[in-house]
Amino acid sequence: MYAQSQLMSGQHWLSRAKAKSASTRSNRKPLKPIRGHVPFTVTSLGQHTSIYAPDPRNVIHVVLEGVRPPEGTVGAVMPAFADTLSDAQIADIAAYLRARFSRGGEWQNIEAEIARLRRSTSP
Ligand code: HEM
Repeated sequence: MYAQSQLMSGQHWLSRAKAKSASTRSNRKPLKPIRGHVPFTVTSLGQHTSIYAPDPRNVIHVVLEGVRPPEGTVGAVMPAFADTLSDAQIADIAAYLRARFSRGGEWQNIEAEIARLRRSTSP
């Protein structure tokens, strides 16, 4: 079982990361809703299929590297958190998202997997 403290820590870092990111957006124009929807957004993190996967690799990749559309196209944008969150913080967030939204089994060794993916993706 994930420790309650780990899940609380994950929830905490998630709201801090979102708040920090929102504050850096303040000088940008708000996104214009199209037919009532903000383009490319989901209303809940629980709608991301990566949370339901058997292992946390996709969640780790998007948090470390962010999301950007292919060159020359329009699409979803998410900031990268590799330089702002530690392995432990990302592990807590992943554990929190898994426990909060998925009925799948607990992901194991999340922090070690983050360290491994950092090593394999850093230049
Ligand atoms: C389940 C894993 C995740 C996936 C697949 C994912 C994917 C995405 C995608 C596709 C977007 C574009 C709009 C949207 O769908 O809302 C986005 C936006 C965003 N995500 Fe994530 N995300 C994930 C988890 C996280 C986490 C854990 C954080 C915080 C640490 C985060 C922070 C953000 C922020 C701040 C934006 C808005 C960017 C902006 O408004 O410019 N995401 N994400």
